[in-house]
Amino acid sequence: MTKLGILLSGRGSNFQAIADQVAAGNVPAEIAIVIANRPDALGLESARERGLKAILLPSKGLDRESYDRQLIAALREVGVEWVVLAGYMRLLSAEFIRAFPQRILNIHPSLLPAFPGLDAQHQAFDYGVKVSGCTVHFVDEHLDHGPIVMQAAVTVANDDTPESLSERILVEEHRIYSESLRRLLTEEWRIEGRRVLFSPSIG
Ligand code: GRF
Repeated sequence: MTKLGILLSGRGSNFQAIADQVAAGNVPAEIAIVIANRPDALGLESARERGLKAILLPSKGLDRESYDRQLIAALREVGVEWVVLAGYMRLLSAEFIRAFPQRILNIHPSLLPAFPGLDAQHQAFDYGVKVSGCTVHFVDEHLDHGPIVMQAAVTVANDDTPESLSERILVEEHRIYSESLRRLLTEEWRIEGRRVLFSPSIG
């Protein structure tokens, strides 16, 4: 079974959605470890309630390179093969990216390349877009930038607020993150340039 390592900084609802799909047998993987970089990350507690190995590795005050070396060591110790960022609020170092080539995923609450960075749903709302959504992508050294695995669109209604839009985007996030993992772990795929191509015969 493929071993996943989850990194999170907060609420952890994407982690929970993935854990549900793993438990239901829809994602053929095992969550080997959940690591939070902030002591107040709620996701840590819910991981422990599920009986998963969950640790706090505080990042405060540490430079990116030395923190990421700790992360790599903790992930390697339990044999993690895929790294899943679930609301992990730090950029990863080049060394970290090289440690897990083509095996790090992130989810972002906009249709990238629109609105990278913080508060993407608010950015999209304020810009006045009629369609926003979410993106699952491979992680490279740049913020919200690597090759795209899946996207889902969400239309913006007249009476939406940033909060109501965020809620509907979150429902799609929970759906496509697990679905992306399921496809990547069960189908043939390759990356050509920026394009993630699933094999047409089975994808
Ligand atoms: C989500 O909106 C995700 O797209 C972004 O951070 C948020 C994390 O939410 N990267 P949660 O911690 O998974 O609930």
